[in-house]
Amino acid sequence: MKIAILGSGGREHALAFQISKSPKLKKMYCIPGNAGTGIIAENVKIEIDDFKKIYEFVESADIDLVIVGPEKPLVNGIVNFLDKKNVKVFGPKQEVAQLEGSKIFTKQICEKYKIPTAKFGTFKNKEETFKFLQNVKMPIVIKADVLAAGKGVYICKDLESSKNATIEIFNGKFGKADHILVEEFLEGEEMSYFIISDGKSFKSFNTAQDHKRVGEGDVGKNTGGMGAYSPSSLLNPELESKIINRIIKPTLNAISEIGETYVGFLYAGLMIKHNDPYLIEYNVRMGDPECQTILPLLKSDLLDLIISCCEKNLEKQNIEWYEKKSLCIVLCSNGYPESYKKNIEIQNFNNLKQDKNNFIFHAGTEIISDKIYATGGRVLNFVSTSDEFIKSRNQIIEQIKKLSWKNGFYRSDIGHKVINK
Ligand code: AMP
Ligand code: GLY
Repeated sequence: MKIAILGSGGREHALAFQISKSPKLKKMYCIPGNAGTGIIAENVKIEIDDFKKIYEFVESADIDLVIVGPEKPLVNGIVNFLDKKNVKVFGPKQEVAQLEGSKIFTKQICEKYKIPTAKFGTFKNKEETFKFLQNVKMPIVIKADVLAAGKGVYICKDLESSKNATIEIFNGKFGKADHILVEEFLEGEEMSYFIISDGKSFKSFNTAQDHKRVGEGDVGKNTGGMGAYSPSSLLNPELESKIINRIIKPTLNAISEIGETYVGFLYAGLMIKHNDPYLIEYNVRMGDPECQTILPLLKSDLLDLIISCCEKNLEKQNIEWYEKKSLCIVLCSNGYPESYKKNIEIQNFNNLKQDKNNFIFHAGTEIISDKIYATGGRVLNFVSTSDEFIKSRNQIIEQIKKLSWKNGFYRSDIGHKVINK
């Protein structure tokens, strides 16, 4: 089979790596890809927003299946676009990608189907929001109803900071926001729960916990993700059955009641309190860096699973996992998530070990004349698997030290909740 993967992050390199092991693969392209995908696939320089060019390439290269990594093209309707042209594509259609694209769409489903989530209100302007904020209990969560890549969410401790958040959102800091969401603050521990779905049936696709804050001890600015580990130690059979029965199944029912089906990965961002799950948000794709930490645990053939989703016979598949502890640390450019320098060479890459327990997935990298350059904020994902999270973390830190890259930083405390118990 000839495959094209859309995207250029660590998630897409991990997807490409796993798919490269499939005997069903004949040729793989990454659009646009990064230095890592360039080693196992052919990178094609097309912007992922340019659906027309993507289609022209898919046609000319005779591609059998397109796999979409990031949310933006999904929310903008790439699946509908390619579907109409009879291109096979793995990912949810625009109508259901609203689960990530519009927080209000998801909240309305939660209300109608009694899915446990934070209480919320929606407001159309600053005045309405301010009036409401006068009488609420702090802390409170304020969100822009836009696709803001993990940003656009404020946890506010007092009236002043909540008013400032409101002003920033309505002034367009995260793009045009017609609505604001004010949410009850949920206490507990966060967990990411994944499923893969063919529109008729679904299967669990493992769990992870990520670290979104830039600083050690989970402090500082929010980022795309500084590291993750899998599986989540919060999961147990009782919790999993609550997640499926109270959250996943009602959501898929809601989708079928609007006459749609959900095909693709679905990522439920959950807050777990006293072994009860609450939905924080949905993402209509794999997480990044959760994908990088989950996929090395997958024993089954990923391409086979994806093909069976497109053929609507996922039910027949048995998804197998290695019983190991996987941890991922993201090496970032100094300055991230604020401004950072680009096009800095990463030397010593050949000092790094990659084997059946140690993986390096590229994110913001490019190869120019056989040299690797950092071109993004999140640069390399180091993943290790072993029988203990601490061993996985130690293996990674040893590797990062061997790289001795002066222009980057990483969090050495990824997994602290499961390691420092
Ligand atoms: P979101 O983009 O909705 O996932 O929010 C980003 C992050 O903000 C989440 O991963 C949580 O850490 C935090 N968050 C969002 N909503 C809430 C809430 N209602 N209560 C507590 N924390 C929240
Ligand atoms: N790691 C968070 C996300 O992918 O949205």
